[in-house]
Amino acid sequence: MGNENIILIGFMGVGKGTVARALVKQSDYFAVDTDDLIESLENKKIKKIFAEEGEPYFRALEKKCALWCEKNITNSVISTGGGFYKQENIKEIGKVIYLQSTFEKILEGIHNSPNAKKKLKKRPLLSNLEEAKKLYEQRVKEYEKVADIIINVEEWDENIAAQNILQELSK
Ligand code: S3P
Repeated sequence: MGNENIILIGFMGVGKGTVARALVKQSDYFAVDTDDLIESLENKKIKKIFAEEGEPYFRALEKKCALWCEKNITNSVISTGGGFYKQENIKEIGKVIYLQSTFEKILEGIHNSPNAKKKLKKRPLLSNLEEAKKLYEQRVKEYEKVADIIINVEEWDENIAAQNILQELSK
């Protein structure tokens, strides 16, 4: 394992940021989010980066961010964008935890959240649900492959998910 970090991977809207914050409350980890790092670097929202520069440009920024995380981050929970799992050095950054849920439950969670509109609006790849479902199906196996630990978050709230992650890590 690299750098004593926890990296949360999983599909858009599954709750990586929420679980990261719950983990911080239950441990001594600090929290970092790769999309936030990219937005700060570019001084632009992800949605705008996609619209103005295109997806390949965003993926190149994710790569830069992954290399930076490997060199510079320790003792942190790193929540990631849904496509970050593809980074070649991900295992060098830390223990990879896949937050697993069904596509339907993920959408349900987004729709039931108080800021549902904002959550949908900021994610360009969720604008077409049919395409998003295809992307989900394609990625599920890849998430599983790269994960060190898989945590099902369909029924649990973030505090229970965080507890389960810490328990798995202590084994
Ligand atoms: C993406 C997920 C987004 C963000 C970008 C691309 C993806 O992050 O990185 O819109 O490829 O799945 P969230 O998983 O936090 O929505």
